Amino acid sequence: MRIKSIVFTLAVALCALTAQAVDQAKMNRFIDDLMGKMTLQEKIGQLNLPVTGDIITGSTVSGDVVGKIKAGQVGGLFNMKGVQSIRALQEVAVKQSRLHIPLIFGMDVIHGYETVFPIPLALSMSWDMDAIRNSARIASIEATADGICWTFSPMVDICREPRWGRMSEGNGEDPFLGSAICRAMIQGYQGADLADQTTMMACVKHFALYGAPEAGRDYNTVDMSHVRMFNEYFPPYKAGVDAGAGSFMTSFNVIDYIPATGNRWLMTEVLRDRWGFDGFVVTDYTAISEMINHGMGDLQTVSALALKAGTDMDMVADGFLGTLEQSLSEGKVTMEDIDKACRRILEAKYKLGLFDDPYRYLDAKRAKKEIYTDANRAAARKLATETFVLLQNKDNVLPLERKGKIALVGPLANTRANMPGTWSVAAASDRYSTLFEAMQRAVGNKAEVMYAKGCNVCYDAELEKNSTMFGREMRDERPASVMRDEAVRIANECDVIVAAMGEPSEMSGESSSRSELTILDAQKDLLEALKATGKPIVLLNFSGRATVMNWEVENIPTILNVWFGGSEAADAICDVVFGDVSPSGKLTVTMPRSVGQVPIYYNHLNTGRPNPKWFSKFTSNYLDVPNNPLFPFGYGLSYTSFEYSHMTLSSNTMNASGSIQAQVTVTNTGNREGAEVVQLYIRDMVGSIARPVQELKGFERITLKPGESRLVTFTIDAELLKFYNKDLNYVCEPGDFEVMVGPNSRDVQRLTFTLK
Ligand code: BGC
Repeated sequence: MRIKSIVFTLAVALCALTAQAVDQAKMNRFIDDLMGKMTLQEKIGQLNLPVTGDIITGSTVSGDVVGKIKAGQVGGLFNMKGVQSIRALQEVAVKQSRLHIPLIFGMDVIHGYETVFPIPLALSMSWDMDAIRNSARIASIEATADGICWTFSPMVDICREPRWGRMSEGNGEDPFLGSAICRAMIQGYQGADLADQTTMMACVKHFALYGAPEAGRDYNTVDMSHVRMFNEYFPPYKAGVDAGAGSFMTSFNVIDYIPATGNRWLMTEVLRDRWGFDGFVVTDYTAISEMINHGMGDLQTVSALALKAGTDMDMVADGFLGTLEQSLSEGKVTMEDIDKACRRILEAKYKLGLFDDPYRYLDAKRAKKEIYTDANRAAARKLATETFVLLQNKDNVLPLERKGKIALVGPLANTRANMPGTWSVAAASDRYSTLFEAMQRAVGNKAEVMYAKGCNVCYDAELEKNSTMFGREMRDERPASVMRDEAVRIANECDVIVAAMGEPSEMSGESSSRSELTILDAQKDLLEALKATGKPIVLLNFSGRATVMNWEVENIPTILNVWFGGSEAADAICDVVFGDVSPSGKLTVTMPRSVGQVPIYYNHLNTGRPNPKWFSKFTSNYLDVPNNPLFPFGYGLSYTSFEYSHMTLSSNTMNASGSIQAQVTVTNTGNREGAEVVQLYIRDMVGSIARPVQELKGFERITLKPGESRLVTFTIDAELLKFYNKDLNYVCEPGDFEVMVGPNSRDVQRLTFTLK
């Protein structure tokens, strides 16, 4: 299995090289020739990306967009679904525009297409790069079978801010893991050859720092030192460039007080000059016109600012289309600025093979055969089981036996539309199971599952409405006491209670920030009532962010965080609940004890007055809560247990040109098979700038049978020890380093070595 995956990775890498070597000269000649024929208006038209949401549902296409396509004023369209409607518009571009330039069709294929994989935050909890790469590959096969050749993914914004709803769309708080996931996703989407019918162009977003908004409020101000950007937030974006991502998307926020979309330092000096990105940059939705609200000037001014900054394509703002001609005549932008952007977009279309065959991704036969297949669903189900994090399992309530009576309660227990999770544009929720349905299937006639909703999402109907949009509504108009009583009655009749609770799927995602992170009031009250029955309880916590769960940890014996597991979530949850699969997910976000600890993250700096224990006057701590989290980064239990025997270092000195090895033997000491994620952390003890108390520098996911041991080896070389110093040079500095190995960031064994 491992050999297979190494071979696959090598193949991808080799082919990526070949793909890079795409006949550049030939492409240049083709584009020179085409651009030689283009008018100024046609060039500006390529920079325009309108939305086609209004077109999806209608059988006739919107006259306005069609008119613009015919006039050569559209470079691409996004978020429309289905070969037929996409083909109709491609035909307009190819047959009725003067130069027949094909459109590029994009979509937010974020965590799968109709086969929906777990939300990206959950995916990261699997730490399974092969499976994540495969999820992107499957997403790509399905999306390209349905006419899409460009996805607005991966979203790689580092996030230490659980109030921010879009934590759900990223890969958690760690730059090393985030970089690995970014690479895997891009390999999965783009494969070896972008012109292949089954691969699509990736778009790394949101560049940059979108995951660090003040107070966790979406779109809010970001302010950060350059040292922090380069060391802690930029690595996954840079990994995207290195992996050959075809495009980047700007973020909505300011960087150094200039919106990313108009920030030349970011889009040109860092992204292109420093990192060597050679694809194109698209704005986020109306990010150009939003610069007016940021106080950067009128539409003409901000559009020129964006183009000059190095932004190539305007999503929905109509800023480029409406003002660039005038800006050119007034000398505010140059022909070279416009040509550069136009060329980059034409190059993307060329690499996708659209000039060879504009209908390459529009094969209706493929759409019928390759979407939501049994094999794809099986992959999604398996991966979902790897993303669930078992936070505690007192008295081994889990796994459940298939016998007796099971009370399934809670607002997430019998909903279909909430299973796939936020940003699943192509989901076909009608085809997915609710947990209630899956659980009945899972037990067959061996046990009885009794269901009661028990409560609404929360008492406040308005809050629930705003958290259950886009067809996810689930409000029950019965009085709270009636719903609760029904659940308690059922619980009393049963042997065990499974409480499916937490957030509905639209309570995370875009524009879904929260100021509190606890389980919502009505659900907490229901949990208390259920606890009073004295029956064992399993809490399945659905969530798109870290949750504050002090009461639950004290009072509910077993807690399994299930996030949003995608189209196959319900079956996957049953696989784990009934023990067909042992949970193996590990937290990629730190779980706080209170919202007041936020931002809380494992790889922080030391203060001058660190405090390992609570409370101590004149040290860095709180009066009312310890510094440490409820659950640390990297944490997660299994149905089996793992022992880490003595770790070793091959040497206690290392030369900058050499390497050493850290080794540890991990043994499955329980009585069932399980997977474990072995983690390596390093601390640079003394530096020219303050260095984090630990940083993830390696991990390996291993599966062990009962009694089986595995020697896990991590190679440490200078590359792993490098960081950006105060001058933003990437260096490693001689001195002492501490190496930590363990099952999470807290429970580690430590050894030291010196870099000569
Ligand atoms: C989001 C992006 C998304 C875009 C296009 C924006 O609102 O921020 O993540 O790709 O819309 O749908």
